[in-house]
Amino acid sequence: MTFIHRIRLDQVDDTHRYPFTLPVVQDLIRHPLELKRPITFLTGDNGAGKSTLVEAIAVAAGFNAEGGTQSFRFATKATESSLGDYLILSWGTRKPRTGFFLRAESFYNVATEIDRIGEGIHASYGGKSLHERSHGESFIDLMTHRFGGKGLYVLDEPEAALSVKGCLTVLRRMHELVEEGSQFIIATHSPILLAAPNATILEITDTIDEIDYDTAEPVRLTRNFLGEPDRFLKHLLD
Ligand SMILES: Nc1ncnc2c1ncn2[C@@H]1O[C@H](COP(=O)(O)OP(=O)(O)O)[C@@H](O)[C@H]1O
Ligand SMILES: [Mg+2]
Repeated sequence: MTFIHRIRLDQVDDTHRYPFTLPVVQDLIRHPLELKRPITFLTGDNGAGKSTLVEAIAVAAGFNAEGGTQSFRFATKATESSLGDYLILSWGTRKPRTGFFLRAESFYNVATEIDRIGEGIHASYGGKSLHERSHGESFIDLMTHRFGGKGLYVLDEPEAALSVKGCLTVLRRMHELVEEGSQFIIATHSPILLAAPNATILEITDTIDEIDYDTAEPVRLTRNFLGEPDRFLKHLLD
């Protein structure tokens, strides 16, 4: 069971500016998203609109647009689109006990805010300032110590900070959190993260379509590349 089980967007009047001009947003007006499984992945090429959508979902769910928990209210700059004000989320009867929104680009600002709020809460982030660890280490600390069961987690390209081993660690932690009743909505290009069980993979092109693991482009391309790197390169570079 999921906390957010449907995301829809009614017809909006002002469709001549970003983000309403994006094909993915137009598609959302026609087809609501059903979040049936504990993990929903959004994948698709650069510029498809994943970050726009993920951020709007986070804002509509009550998170700070730059990331953090629902109580974070800092802002370093206002780049968020107004899509979040228009999305209509359908919530189940069960409410999340905790949650976190994380954008790869503003993790630094989240770490600064955690420092600003005070040393007292560092315990829940692994015992020291997130600035004193690498981006990847602090992300894993955050997931290990701060994320808990029955949580709602909205993540934008968490793999940006992670080694392949780090991705596997995160995959295992995600699985634990799902078993403890959490829901994840994740924009990702990682063929490793996409392999998580209990997940729906939505591919964003001009439309949003449910696809299976083997069809997902990051998986297909990585597989083809690693299968025969020399042949792939020859084809690519000739
Ligand atoms: N603040 C903005 N103003 C205008 N256009 C934007 C803004 N942010 C993103 N875009 C455009 O919207 C499209 C989707 O961006 P984004 O959601 O970041 O894509 P993705 O995360 O899938 O790579 C891109 O073409 C981008 O140039
Ligand atoms: Mg993005």
